[in-house]
Amino acid sequence: MSAQKIEFLFALGRNPDLSMAELTTYLDTRERKYRLLQKESPFSVLALADDTTLAKECVAHTGSILKVGERLACFALDKENERGLRGRVSQLRFCEGVEDRFSWGVSGYGDDPRLGHLWRMVKSQIRNEIKAGRMKGSFVWPRKAGALPFEKRFRIPLMPDDILRKRLIDRGVEVIVTATKGCCCLWRTLGVIPLDEYNERDFTRPHQRPLLSIAPSLARTMINLARLRPGDVVVDPFCGIGTILQEALLAGVRVKGLDIDAACVNMTVENLSWISRRFNLGLTKSNLETGIKVGDARELEKHLPKRSMHAVVTEPELGPPLQRLPTRGEAQQIISKAEKLYSRFLASAATILRDDGRIALTFPILRLQDGGFLRIRGTARMLEDAGLTPTGGPFQVRGGEGELYYSKTRMMEREIRVLEKSC
Ligand SMILES: C[S@@+](CC[C@H](N)C(=O)[O-])C[C@H]1O[C@@H](n2cnc3c(N)ncnc32)[C@H](O)[C@@H]1O
Repeated sequence: MSAQKIEFLFALGRNPDLSMAELTTYLDTRERKYRLLQKESPFSVLALADDTTLAKECVAHTGSILKVGERLACFALDKENERGLRGRVSQLRFCEGVEDRFSWGVSGYGDDPRLGHLWRMVKSQIRNEIKAGRMKGSFVWPRKAGALPFEKRFRIPLMPDDILRKRLIDRGVEVIVTATKGCCCLWRTLGVIPLDEYNERDFTRPHQRPLLSIAPSLARTMINLARLRPGDVVVDPFCGIGTILQEALLAGVRVKGLDIDAACVNMTVENLSWISRRFNLGLTKSNLETGIKVGDARELEKHLPKRSMHAVVTEPELGPPLQRLPTRGEAQQIISKAEKLYSRFLASAATILRDDGRIALTFPILRLQDGGFLRIRGTARMLEDAGLTPTGGPFQVRGGEGELYYSKTRMMEREIRVLEKSC
C-alpha cells in the first residue's frame, strides 16, 4: 500500500455482511486496492488509494451501502478530558463550501456510551460556527429521534432519504460522529445511496408489479455480487418485468432475458426501452427483442450457447401471490414445487455459464401462520448435482415496502446466494 491512502467511512445497510460483500466485490472486480481498517455492525472504515472519486462511485453504484464519509479527525477518547475533547472539536471547520442558506445535520454511529455526548458537542460546535459566520443554517433532526435520541443510539443516524431531501450533500453538510472501542472519529458525508434514482426507476417505468418485482437497489447488489463488469453478458432467466436487467444495463452490462410468460417478455422489452431512452443508452426496441425471449429457465441450453454467460442473476418463481400467511402444509407445497424448479434451473444454468462465471440468486424463506419459517431443503445436494459451489452468502434480506413477494404483511424473506462452478 502506498502512503497516499485516505480513510473513508461506509455506513452499511440492513444486512451489514451483505453490504460488505457487495462493497469488497465491487472493488475487487475493478482491481482497486483497499484495506479494511475497522468493521463494526453499522459501518466499516476502508483505506482507499487517494481516491475520493472512487469512494463516491462506490456508494453511487452499489445497492446496499447507505453513505460514504471522508475523515476529518480522530482521537482517543480515554486520553482526552472534557476540555481536551472540546478543544479538539473546536479546531475543526465543518461548514466550508456550504450555500448561503443550507441545512445541516449530525449523525452518530457506535456503541460507546459517550456517543450522545459527542454528538451534542459536535452539534453545538457547528451552531457556533454558523453564528460566528452569520450563516443561515437549519438543523435537520434524525428521524424518530425527536424525543430521546441518545437512549436509542442507532436512531441517531440521519437516513439517506432525509439527506437527499434536505440537500445536505450538495448544498449543506452532514457530519458523522463514530465512537467505538475508545476512539472517536468525525467524518463529512460525501455521498449517499441514490434512493431518488432507484425510486424513479421503480415507480415511473411503464410497467410495475409492486408485489412481484425485486427492488432495483437489491438487483444492483446482486449484479455487483456476480462480479459483472461493463461489456460482460448476464442472463436473468426469470426476468419478470426486467428489474435485474435494467440495473445491469445501467452498469454497462449486456443483457439476455427469458420468461415463461410472453406478457412478461413484452413488459421487460418496454421497460428496458424506457430505461434506454431515459438514460441515453442507445438501445432500440428491436435490439432488445433479440435478447429477451419467451423460454423456460429449466432449459436454458435451448436458448443460449454453452459456457457463454459471464453471470446468471435472478429471482426465480414462487407461485401466485398469497393473501395471508400460509399454513405449514400450504408452505410445504409451495416449497416442494420451488425445490424441483430450483434444482432443474440450477443444473441448466451451470451449462450456459462460463467457467469463470457466477450465479447470484435469491432463495425464499416463507413465514408461516404458526410463527415458524420454511425454506428450500437440500440445497447442498442440489448445488453438488449441478456442479456449483457457494462463494458468498447466504445473506438474509427482509422484504421492505414494494419488494415483498406476497403482500405488505412481510410474508417472505429472501436469502441471496452467490455460486460458481465447482473445479
Ligand atoms: C419472481 S418473478 C421475477 C421478478 C423479477 N425479478 C422482476 O423484478 O420483475 C418470477 C418470474 O418467473 C417467471 N417464470 C416462472 N416459471 C418460469 C420458468 N420455468 N422459466 C422462466 N420463467 C419462469 C414468471 O412468469 C415470473 O415473471
